[in-house]
Amino acid sequence: MACTGFNRRSFAWAVLIAVVLVARANAIDIFLEWHLTLDTTLKPVTRDQPVIVINGLFPGPLINATTNDFVHVNIFNDMDEPLLFTWNGIQQRLNSWQDGVSGTNCPIQPGTNWTYVFQTKDQIGSFFYFPSINFHKAAGGFGSIRVINRNVIAVPFPRPEAEFDLLIGDWFYDSYQNTRALMGTPLVAYHAIPDIILMNGKGPFGNPMSKSYESFNVTQGMTYRLRISNVGNALSFNFRIQNHQMVLVETEGSYTDQIALDSLDVHVGQSYSVLVTANQNAADYYMVASPKLVNTSEFTSLVGIGVLHYSNSVSQVSGPLPDGPDPFDLDFSVDQAKSIRWNLTAGAARPNPQGTFNVSNVTLSQTFILQSSVADLGDEPRYVVNNVSYRTPETPLKLADYYVNGTGVYQLDAFPTHYVNDDAAYGVSVVTGIHKGWIEIVFMNTLDAMDSWHLDGFGFYVVGFGNGDWSTDSRDTYNLYDPVVRSTVQVYPGGWTAVYAFLDNPGMWNLRSQLLKHWYLGQELYVRVYDADPNPAKESPPPENLLRCGIFSSPPAPAPAPASWT
Ligand SMILES: *[C@@H]1O[C@H](CO)[C@@H](O)[C@H](O)[C@H]1NC(C)=O
Ligand SMILES: *[C@@H]1O[C@H](CO)[C@@H](O)[C@H](O)[C@H]1NC(C)=O
Ligand SMILES: *[C@@H]1O[C@H](CO)[C@@H](O)[C@H](O)[C@H]1NC(C)=O
Ligand SMILES: *[C@@H]1O[C@H](CO)[C@@H](O)[C@H](O)[C@H]1NC(C)=O
Ligand SMILES: *[C@@H]1O[C@H](CO)[C@@H](O)[C@H](O)[C@H]1NC(C)=O
Ligand SMILES: *[C@@H]1O[C@H](CO)[C@@H](O)[C@H](O)[C@H]1NC(C)=O
Ligand SMILES: *[C@@H]1O[C@H](CO)[C@@H](O)[C@H](O)[C@H]1NC(C)=O
Ligand SMILES: *[C@@H]1O[C@H](CO)[C@@H](O)[C@H](O)[C@H]1NC(C)=O
Ligand SMILES: *[C@@H]1O[C@H](CO)[C@@H](O)[C@H](O)[C@H]1NC(C)=O
Repeated sequence: MACTGFNRRSFAWAVLIAVVLVARANAIDIFLEWHLTLDTTLKPVTRDQPVIVINGLFPGPLINATTNDFVHVNIFNDMDEPLLFTWNGIQQRLNSWQDGVSGTNCPIQPGTNWTYVFQTKDQIGSFFYFPSINFHKAAGGFGSIRVINRNVIAVPFPRPEAEFDLLIGDWFYDSYQNTRALMGTPLVAYHAIPDIILMNGKGPFGNPMSKSYESFNVTQGMTYRLRISNVGNALSFNFRIQNHQMVLVETEGSYTDQIALDSLDVHVGQSYSVLVTANQNAADYYMVASPKLVNTSEFTSLVGIGVLHYSNSVSQVSGPLPDGPDPFDLDFSVDQAKSIRWNLTAGAARPNPQGTFNVSNVTLSQTFILQSSVADLGDEPRYVVNNVSYRTPETPLKLADYYVNGTGVYQLDAFPTHYVNDDAAYGVSVVTGIHKGWIEIVFMNTLDAMDSWHLDGFGFYVVGFGNGDWSTDSRDTYNLYDPVVRSTVQVYPGGWTAVYAFLDNPGMWNLRSQLLKHWYLGQELYVRVYDADPNPAKESPPPENLLRCGIFSSPPAPAPAPASWT
């Protein structure tokens, strides 16, 4: 990784320059060059199967940034399909042009390259990136993102001896192309579950399908930070380490109240940091990730297994795998979720305490009630939100919004943000999010699988979980005191999850199920947050290297750019 300190941009107007220089005082530019290929020899398990690798690596390389750094990722698409990357949990402040989902960017065509430039503005924490279109995530292409504190901001725990990134996820034996093609088949679309669980791209210890297994080498007496993400397609898992407790410290950019845990549930798309102290006898210990809502007596390969190796150990792992909670005991999971609280006194990206953002008394501007379910549309099995199954237009919404107010691509607020009894239909659902308003979003899950939802551009204040239908009385059960802020939240089967978000980030933002087949088959919408005040325009203009496609395949007339950017 090459790093330099020069200022990339020169701004035309004097007033902002001083502000920008201050903001950039310690920020650096990080330049990355990624070559994306489909590798048929790597084979994480003993199957012939293509894997998406970055510079030959699976998982892809770590992005190691500090708060406010500018990350330039020049992506060479050496695959045979269009490609995009998204940066799960990186908020892209004022810059949804870099978000890398189908609604914000034209795909990077095979044989071409395109450079993302994004800033890790005012963020810290553990995140990951992944390829966002064409079902590519099922083939890999994901990797860790760390955003570390600036030197002047204290981390609320002693410096660990070392850090390990641990990307855990379910995996199909079949190629992603075959799995993708089978998404048109109801049996697969509605019922298929993956085959095995990988840890950092490696199969379970002791499993005959595995060519290798993941092992972390630790020194007895030392404490380590594990940054654990669920990069899978479908399954939540419970993570635990034989004979070791974990101390939860961070999730998706929020330092949590530090709690000691025997095991931790991680849902699809989520990231956590835990501290683990090597305080046991010199030996090797199992690290286990077992799926929720799956009977692992019947699906034994769906237990991810790695090894925590003490450097002075002379013994192999032994004994039974450490027991976790009953995978069907959702009360355990809900109770744990409710115990994850924001540490209101820990500093994070900014020196001021996180508790500055106190939601106990905010005025809500909007409430969305989003119910997820399935529906057959014609012959197609689809996943729906409020009975709308998103159909991806050829033209990214963001371009259509910027150049022609959406004309010909989408109609703003054409679909309901409250659950209504209506026939299921395809639609391009783009809804208004009121700029600088507080929004309450209630996710309801009518399916019998775990779901998880993510909003680009913002953090969710996770205020409540409950069973059955949500009603306004459910608000009495909210935690408005110290809800944790994160970007992906789980929704239990037959239950609801409520979050708040402060819509201070203008842009076109993807709101999606993180479960790959749900997302791929239509469970998403976009929230358009528009700042009507042009003075000064806060949102970034399109990047100079903007890709064009759909109705903009040939360059459009000059943009109706906000006044101060022109
Ligand atoms: C990440 O960056 C920090 C700050 O530049 C550096 O101290 C650290 O060693 C880096 N970590 C890795 C794994 O590259
Ligand atoms: C493609 O890569 C070249 C060479 O590194 C670089 O100069 C160019 O800016 C890249 N193109 C885009 C669109 O990012
Ligand atoms: C919260 O952070 C503060 C400040 O760093 C730390 O001293 C305290 O132990 C943390 N509180 C909890 C409950 O983890
Ligand atoms: C799990 O599967 C085993 C073996 O088929 C069976 O005996 C057991 O009852 C199942 N457990 C649950 C909770 O379904
Ligand atoms: C583990 O770490 C120790 C000390 O850092 C080193 O000497 C040893 O070679 C490592 N063992 C493995 C298996 O990597
Ligand atoms: C809470 O909000 C209300 C209305 O916005 C306001 O009148 C009241 O003073 C606030 N209470 C506190 C304790 O901040
Ligand atoms: C948040 O503000 C309310 C008043 O609106 C106050 O009662 C409460 O103690 C504050 N919470 C924190 C964590 O400071
Ligand atoms: C888009 O809408 C805005 C406000 O409604 C209007 O001022 C502008 O002229 C429209 N632009 C185009 C290209 O239609
Ligand atoms: C969704 O549409 C189906 C018909 O396709 C209908 O039976 C069902 O009641 C609708 N559900 C909602 C929540 O609108």
